[in-house]
Amino acid sequence: MDVSSYKPKGRIEHRHLLNLLDYSSADIYEILHLAGNLKSAFLRGKKHELLKGKTLAMIFSKSSTRTRVSFEMGMHQLGGHSLFLSSNDIQLGRGETIHDTACVLSRYGIDGVMIRTFKQSDVEELAKYGSFSVINGLTDDFHPCQALADIFTLYETYGHLNGVKLAYFGDGNNMAHSLMLAGAKTGMEICICSPKGFQPNPEITAAAQQFGNVTVTDNVEQAATGADALYTDVFFSMGQAKDPAKEKTLMPYQVNADVLNMAKKDVVFMHCLPAHRGEEVTEDVIDSTHSIIFQEAENRLHVQKAVMCLLMGKK
Ligand code: CP
Ligand code: NVA
Repeated sequence: MDVSSYKPKGRIEHRHLLNLLDYSSADIYEILHLAGNLKSAFLRGKKHELLKGKTLAMIFSKSSTRTRVSFEMGMHQLGGHSLFLSSNDIQLGRGETIHDTACVLSRYGIDGVMIRTFKQSDVEELAKYGSFSVINGLTDDFHPCQALADIFTLYETYGHLNGVKLAYFGDGNNMAHSLMLAGAKTGMEICICSPKGFQPNPEITAAAQQFGNVTVTDNVEQAATGADALYTDVFFSMGQAKDPAKEKTLMPYQVNADVLNMAKKDVVFMHCLPAHRGEEVTEDVIDSTHSIIFQEAENRLHVQKAVMCLLMGKK
């Protein structure tokens, strides 16, 4: 079944969004449908205070523009409150454990915690010990909110997801992992094109391959041919030191005019942002009419609002 023919039920049986591994196609379709409804309500200026009285704490151990602002605005538009907690300012940054932080936040009536951090295990631990919903706002391994916003953007672009080919170029990182999972579960064709040594985690790749059409290659032409979407991300993710050898290895995987010309004529260019023009993508591609980067950023708001409603709203 494709997202376009899915009949929404208005609920999913989850309390957390940790990595998408445990989400079914139907769960993802629920999110995409609700995101569409919330986006159209927002654009019509219609009030939709579905999380009135709810509070989301947002823990950031890494920088953010999109994630921070879209979650904060999302909670505001849904009638709820958000608390920005930089790990530099809370005791977590001075060594207080995730366990103790989870137990303390649970005592204050927090309904949800969005956390951006390094270790995926910290997100899982927070979910284990807290009495609230936990949403992964990026770890070294996954970025599920971005991947969901990206496939929602492709759904808006093509009207369906079945068979839509997304080719990802560069570092086999958190974005590559989450795109593989989200794409495989929604009938897309996902091709990750990375050089040896920088290919995605084999266990996550194998898990994604169980759900759908996911391939990994180091051949740029093979990946780009027939692609409906070309996607790339930074060579160095947050927390990684700049390494000239890695940059040299990844440069042949840059998305440039040659790669664009190998893909379908009306291919779209995607990037989670922030981007480094001249590294993973050339200026002429990212600023071309093929580029839908700001639509992706915009859709973070609507998709995350849908996620929060489904996890934190009335059951
Ligand atoms: N794409 C993304 O997550 O952006 P931020 O790092 O600005 O939140
Ligand atoms: N891979 C990047 C994504 C940023 C949104 C990082 O982790 O820094």
